[in-house]
Amino acid sequence: MTNQELKNEILRLKKEKNAVILGHYYQRDEIQELSDYVGDSLALAQKAQGVEADIIVFCGVHFMAETAKILNPRCKVLLPDMEAGCSLADSCKADDFERFLEQHPGHTVISYVNCSAAVKALSDIICTSGNAEQIVRSLPADEPIVFAPDRNLGSYINAVTGRQMVLWNGVCEVHDAMEAEAVMRLKSQYPDAPVVAHPECNAALLKVADFVGSTKAMLNYVSSSPQHRIIVATENGILHQMRQLCPDKEFLTLGDGRHCACDECAHMKLNTLEKLYRCLRDEQPELTMSADLIEAAKRPIVRMLDMSRELGIIK
Ligand code: 13P
Ligand code: SF4
Repeated sequence: MTNQELKNEILRLKKEKNAVILGHYYQRDEIQELSDYVGDSLALAQKAQGVEADIIVFCGVHFMAETAKILNPRCKVLLPDMEAGCSLADSCKADDFERFLEQHPGHTVISYVNCSAAVKALSDIICTSGNAEQIVRSLPADEPIVFAPDRNLGSYINAVTGRQMVLWNGVCEVHDAMEAEAVMRLKSQYPDAPVVAHPECNAALLKVADFVGSTKAMLNYVSSSPQHRIIVATENGILHQMRQLCPDKEFLTLGDGRHCACDECAHMKLNTLEKLYRCLRDEQPELTMSADLIEAAKRPIVRMLDMSRELGIIK
């Protein structure tokens, strides 16, 4: 089938089966275009909770589809490629995390949404890059906190809040490998270009960034920036939305697409048009979870959504 035929079939099957497609900003352009809703992890979780259709096709990675299932267990949740994982989630196995928590009794456990449902079930509050700082700030200053699994996001929050959260030692293999030197090389060529970065980047890179935020926050920043050129330190899938929002602006990235794909998340890119089509046609692969795990993992996610509403981050 040609790409156009695949797209037509996907739209037809979506209607026939009463399905919605939720897509993350790091998905391939053509998948973002077919998605009913494109967003960051926080917005996608919120959206999944309110889905009234029978099927959610989650175009993102495994932990995101799991979150959708936890928040809306009535829906059949499909992921075009079940192998689409996440290095952060993989860095934190539930058994190891349980032992780590035993070494830190009396701590409030905040886990970044990029973790398995089993790790969520061991946590008190979940956060995303879109609410992590405010959630931490909302807790009493002397409350001992364990933050997992992203040590870069955790140390960024420690730096901006003055806290000393205990950090799990995990990283995003894509953002952690981005180099401050590469940013500085672009900055020396284009001194007026502001740098936007995702908080999963390493501390040296975040130090040279003008703006640090979630995928959605970076999109807001670039669309309101008066600058014509912007240096972007995150996964390259976001360029699709940036170019749509700001067709006249130029976005400079750390990978050049020809010699390296160092700004590409191989997991996110496992989802393709062909797999999306087959997944809707066959209603496979389906993400399933035990009712007990759904219940246990739901509590800290719902707490995050409630806190985000109270803090005015979401409606
Ligand atoms: P956002 O929540 O900012 O969209 O980030 C998700 C992610 O996986 C970043 O690598
Ligand atoms: Fe995980 Fe990093 Fe890929 Fe985001 S970009 S899904 S954190 S590996």
